Amino acid sequence: MTRDAGAGPLARLLDGLAGEGWAVVDGLLSEEVLRGLRARLEELEAQGALAPARVGRGEGRQRVAEVRGDLISWLPGPLEVGGAREGLTAAERGLYERVDELVLGLNRRLFLGVRGYELHYARYGEGAGYQRHVDRLRGQPAAGRAGGLGERRVSLVTYLNEGWVAGDGGELCVWAPVEGGGEREALVAPVWGRTVCFESDRFPHAVLPARRARRSVTGWLLG
Ligand code: OGA
Ligand code: MN
Repeated sequence: MTRDAGAGPLARLLDGLAGEGWAVVDGLLSEEVLRGLRARLEELEAQGALAPARVGRGEGRQRVAEVRGDLISWLPGPLEVGGAREGLTAAERGLYERVDELVLGLNRRLFLGVRGYELHYARYGEGAGYQRHVDRLRGQPAAGRAGGLGERRVSLVTYLNEGWVAGDGGELCVWAPVEGGGEREALVAPVWGRTVCFESDRFPHAVLPARRARRSVTGWLLG
């Protein structure tokens, strides 16, 4: 990861992705957007609109709470980059605008050819986690939702947890590949406004169980 104190969060995300293939930054989204996303997620929770996430695809697609314990709600989409933004809240539009900027930078700099994205809210209840996995297995076709926009290229998670402290758990554990073989383990605390981004097929990761509800908005850049 590049740690250039002079550059903004977007530039640091791009540097990280262009370098090691992953990055952690704070403050990619404004406080206003973060607060709006958090409020919308709580509204969806109150409406009972979150559903258990599923693992696998096709016939093997199933709910396995021991593997993955979060409840999710998809934002409208999958959406094309710069596509119509109907039915979104102001905060969701703010999120998409920022992700558009990221995509523009990635396509320019890394020639990734990202064409769209899919995003969901996620809530892990107390004790829930997600076992080690990769978001896209090499050589596998796109997941069901990606409909025509390509495969998952880059994973993106922004955390919406105010007042998160070390003892709360819920860290994202990332196994970063090391040059020459092997991997290095890193823990990312899911604190308010923190964004983690990584290449979807190269970084195994897991969500460690938390001692309180853990909220995020999670997405994939498709191309
Ligand atoms: C996922 C995932 C990580 C996190 O949804 O695939 O790995 O920190 N999420 O929530
Ligand atoms: Mn994942």
